[in-house]
Amino acid sequence: MSTTLLTNIGELTTNVVGDDGDRSGTLQSAAVLIEDEHIAWVGAAADAPVAAQVVDALGRAVIPGFVDSHSHLVFGGDRAAEFEARMAGQKYAAGGIRSTVAATRAASDDDLRARLRGFISEMNAQGTTTVEIKSGYGLSVQDEERLVRLAAEVTPEVTFLGAHVVPADYADRADEYVELVTGPMLDACAPHSKWIDVFCETGAFTVEQSRRVLEAGIAKGLRPRVHASQLGPGDGVRLAVELGAASVDHGTYLTDEDIAALAASDTVLTLLPGVEFSTRQPYPDARRLIDAGVTVAIACDTNPGSSFTSSMPFCIAIAVRDMGMTPAEAVWAATAGGARALGRDDIGIIAPGARADLVLLAAPTRIHLAYRPGVPLVEKVWKNGTAVF
Ligand code: NIG
Ligand code: FE
Repeated sequence: MSTTLLTNIGELTTNVVGDDGDRSGTLQSAAVLIEDEHIAWVGAAADAPVAAQVVDALGRAVIPGFVDSHSHLVFGGDRAAEFEARMAGQKYAAGGIRSTVAATRAASDDDLRARLRGFISEMNAQGTTTVEIKSGYGLSVQDEERLVRLAAEVTPEVTFLGAHVVPADYADRADEYVELVTGPMLDACAPHSKWIDVFCETGAFTVEQSRRVLEAGIAKGLRPRVHASQLGPGDGVRLAVELGAASVDHGTYLTDEDIAALAASDTVLTLLPGVEFSTRQPYPDARRLIDAGVTVAIACDTNPGSSFTSSMPFCIAIAVRDMGMTPAEAVWAATAGGARALGRDDIGIIAPGARADLVLLAAPTRIHLAYRPGVPLVEKVWKNGTAVF
């Protein structure tokens, strides 16, 4: 057995609610014992057990590894020119997805795999230890199967998103495309996937089509999650709640009914601050959502169109600066919130029995993640007890 003691931690965020009601479960002058892949002990540094290896945190902060519960990492090409045009005033539209579909279909497995592995290293270096990855840039049976298969090489959190948009070869035949997605494409992709997702939005899929997609996935043993209310208000959030989705993501344009439905449900609302940043849309009011009782997560939505950041610290900084979250809430949303959005109780917390996924910050407190935006504050990262950065 390999044991590592991480000690002299100035501020430890455990996300285990303490007697004082602190949701971040903050401990001062703390230590964590890692045994192989798991956390074995958490407590005061003064009471720490002995271990084969000792890491001195020098009074700095330690948080759980980030759980990035929404990304699209398997794709070819990029859309830098589209971003440039958008910054000059052009509006974001879902149609841009089709240009990435063409570039993805043209890329080899090895090209896609090399790119994907590069993103994983880039994310590890920024403190992310779990990432959910969606398909959605293949949009044919063969290409969607390829994307979920490649994603499954690097994460267990794989989402089949064949219903991302209607591909150009099915233009004006959306219902026929839904037949393909819920039939042969689902058959090919379900063995590699844990989740089923749909882009329920004007310009993508209607609420009726979305329901068909999600119900077909559920019947195959996949769990639902939904893209909704990104480009305007719609019925996607309520559909997600009705079907018991683990998470509904975006929520840029929520109605009062959406908020009430979310607050009364177990469905997490995953906010994607990088999207509003990169599309110049209004930031959702996270303060209002949290005060209404909604469980909020934060994710990057790394993709070549609407949000090409892979930095959870950057998203935390936006959530604090522009969405009304406190630093403690934003860090919770990026760790424990992401874990809830993925239905996981073994990550997003620092507690005995949990996976040893931890981040040592080059800062005395987690507040610095928002206070020092753009500064690389991630000093060291462990995933399953192994240093990955
Ligand atoms: O999550 N909303 C749909 N899908 C992606 C955008 C994909 C793209 O523009 O390529 C998203 O924002
Ligand atoms: Fe997305």
